[in-house]
Amino acid sequence: MCGIVGYVGSRIAGPLLLEGLKRLEYRGYDSAGVAIMNGKGVETRKAAGKISMLETIMVGNPVAGTLGIAHTRWATHGAPTTTNAHPHVDCKGNIAVVHNGIIENSTALRHWLEDNGHTFVSETDTEVLAHLIEASFDGNLEEAVIEALHMVHGTYGIAVVSSLDPQKIVAARMGSPLIIGLGENEFYVASDVSAIVEHTRQVVYLDDGDLAVLDRTGYRVIDLEAQEMTRTVSQVDWDLGQIERGGFPHFMLKEIFEQPATVENTMRGRLLPADSTAKLSGLNLSDDELLSFDNIIITACGTSWHSALIGEHMLEEMTRIPVEVEYASEFRYRNPIVTPRTLCIVISQSGETADTLAAMREAKRRGARTVGLVNVVGSTIARESDGGVYLHAGPEIGVASTKAFTSQVVALALLTLRMGRLRAVSAVRGAEIIQALMALPAQVQEILDQAEQIEHLAEQYKDNSNFLYLGRGFNFPAALEGALKLKEISYIHAEGYPAAEMKHGPIALIDSAMPVVFIAPHDSVFEKVVSNVQEVKARGGRVIAITSRDEPQLAGLVAHEIRIPQTIDMLTPVLAAVPLQLLAYYIAVKRGCNVDQPRNLAKSVTVE
Ligand code: F6R
Repeated sequence: MCGIVGYVGSRIAGPLLLEGLKRLEYRGYDSAGVAIMNGKGVETRKAAGKISMLETIMVGNPVAGTLGIAHTRWATHGAPTTTNAHPHVDCKGNIAVVHNGIIENSTALRHWLEDNGHTFVSETDTEVLAHLIEASFDGNLEEAVIEALHMVHGTYGIAVVSSLDPQKIVAARMGSPLIIGLGENEFYVASDVSAIVEHTRQVVYLDDGDLAVLDRTGYRVIDLEAQEMTRTVSQVDWDLGQIERGGFPHFMLKEIFEQPATVENTMRGRLLPADSTAKLSGLNLSDDELLSFDNIIITACGTSWHSALIGEHMLEEMTRIPVEVEYASEFRYRNPIVTPRTLCIVISQSGETADTLAAMREAKRRGARTVGLVNVVGSTIARESDGGVYLHAGPEIGVASTKAFTSQVVALALLTLRMGRLRAVSAVRGAEIIQALMALPAQVQEILDQAEQIEHLAEQYKDNSNFLYLGRGFNFPAALEGALKLKEISYIHAEGYPAAEMKHGPIALIDSAMPVVFIAPHDSVFEKVVSNVQEVKARGGRVIAITSRDEPQLAGLVAHEIRIPQTIDMLTPVLAAVPLQLLAYYIAVKRGCNVDQPRNLAKSVTVE
């Protein structure tokens, strides 16, 4: 959420910064701006709205210069206006700052600065940083930034330029991701690899407390006491093609259609059919350690929390270890029971979600072993967890998570297989699971081949104002996920419930205007789900059923049916997710919604 990109080198910075911002637009898109050193001073351009608004301004009124910083905003403090857009400058316009994160003591600092003669123009917390750096400046920008940062509490990823020390960009990180990109006599700073992958794949991931100084000749990393730090250079293993739409109208659709490959990538090289188990070398846990856990806590947010619920079901069934699933935002503020014999599984596509990261740190502090199921390589959760399973789903740009969800469920199945085989799962059962996993990519493709039919269905339901999603067992979380997908991109109110729970309240909502999506594959709870379908039908509800074979019991009860292939119970949510994603996608598009940039949302929630 919010994106930063900065450039120093010999090329004209403006177009590079705009390009970088466009690649970051999925992280925040309510206003944007740039600050470029024009040879005399700092020149800024800002605009409310999408990056295209800023681009129009910059085309009409370009800024020359080979050093600059830029920002795309997701508003926290202050409305998304041009004045509140970053960069923010000091009183004299000599220092410009872009910032991701929240300065928690900004009100007190603002009063103090105002009492000392500083004048503020915006409502943002970020502007405080520009004035603090101004107050601390004594000829050297990094020294002033260090002094200012010692006064702030909160989270930040910042980039700063100044006409008083004009050859450099100073960047710093505390709780908000930041990387340095290394080119040939040119250097970048960015909140996210996608902003710069077109230009370089060599990056340095900054740690909390790091401050980087970049100029045309190189970069150095120091800490907040100005001590030199050594940081390794990493190679980004994906390329530009993966962050482009590749002929699809939206990233979300592209990512839905990538799932046969992404599901396969999550499994690649990890299945050991000869031993009916899985190999997860990144876990950093020996068999003895895997056998030693008394309890498991899985923590996550949003869609990742839904996959956590599926993981709970799998792990309890096959390891017989008690599992608890916790919203990361709740876990971090209560007093959870965690011991050194607790395994804490942390699930996050981005690896940067603030609540999930904080929950993981809390679990670690209390002695748990932490394992991250993360998609973004080099992200904070991936680096700070004791071990992990990368999803290998490739960059997910669509704000609504799709391919990461199916890969998370597959990764949880691999972990379950690995742990289960050490405990309660026989070789025969393990072999069945492997066979079912290997069949998934082709099965996902079978569902994608029905996209046209699902689009047709969307046409019939696009004007409804409410939806109910119901499922049981492994597919209760799938129902939650289906409802979340629909509401976040189409703005239709949708609720997910365990199917039988419906009669304890939500049944009151059912009438002919209420479509009810049942996730009803032929699994161990199918018969129970049929009874729930009957209850809905008896009250005039219109049922859309996701089924896996001809079911005479559903004849006459169901208005529409979407068929998914048959798999083992624990993997049904992977297959059920695909038509649910497509249904949400097509409904949203038909309602004229911007599915890749839904209102009020942004990818990677790096604030509390
Ligand atoms: C929904 C969605 C969000 C994320 C949530 C956690 O489509 O994308 O609910 O799942 O913000 O994000 P990660 O997985 O990056 O921690």
